[in-house]
Amino acid sequence: MLAFWNIRIGLWICTTFDHFAQHLLTNAVGPIIVAQELLKLSDVSIGTMAFMSSDSGSTQRFLAYEDGFAAYAASKAALNQALRHLAEELRRKQRHTVILALHPGEVATDMGMIETSWDLDGGQITTEESVIKMMEVIRSKSINQSGTFWTWENKEYPW
Ligand SMILES: NC(=O)c1ccc[n+]([C@@H]2O[C@H](COP(=O)([O-])OP(=O)(O)OC[C@H]3O[C@@H](n4cnc5c(N)ncnc54)[C@H](OP(=O)(O)O)[C@@H]3O)[C@@H](O)[C@H]2O)c1
Repeated sequence: MLAFWNIRIGLWICTTFDHFAQHLLTNAVGPIIVAQELLKLSDVSIGTMAFMSSDSGSTQRFLAYEDGFAAYAASKAALNQALRHLAEELRRKQRHTVILALHPGEVATDMGMIETSWDLDGGQITTEESVIKMMEVIRSKSINQSGTFWTWENKEYPW
């Protein structure tokens, strides 16, 4: 599972070049480049690549109240779009690696400790619960579902 994250809370107008670039590099460029290198390994067959996305990266279900999350959300939207391309290109090349985007839930990690100005709908789940559920999601998907976005509860999420 390709999972990095980098966020610094702050008003959108207070972002800097480095802050924004760091989000894009960590959350979008890094995972896609790692995936690309893994897919080049001719002696390794990869069944599924699950990318750690976020509900914050959905453009269709825009979370307008997430003040300070603009760079983070944009980086996850970039990741989502890149992996949709990756899934389609692999499909056209008759490669059988399943590409998935996952939203892990609101999880009690270091990131989950950040104070936000909004209430977490339904509270936080543990890392164990999130990972166990995401493993079930990953196992339940086949090549026909490559290029799709899922929550830890196995509900399809809009791009
Ligand atoms: N927690 C949530 O509620 C939540 C919700 C939606 C999505 N997610 C996603 O879930 C994933 C995991 O997040 P988390 O909650 O586990 O956060 P976390 O506890 O803060 O852990 C983040 C991890 O990413 C590593 N990292 C950060 N920047 C990196 C970089 N530039 N290169 C390599 N590693 C880097 C950190 O390493 P160091 O410890 O060495 O800094 C740390 O191990 C992220 O992709 C996040 O966007 C989390």
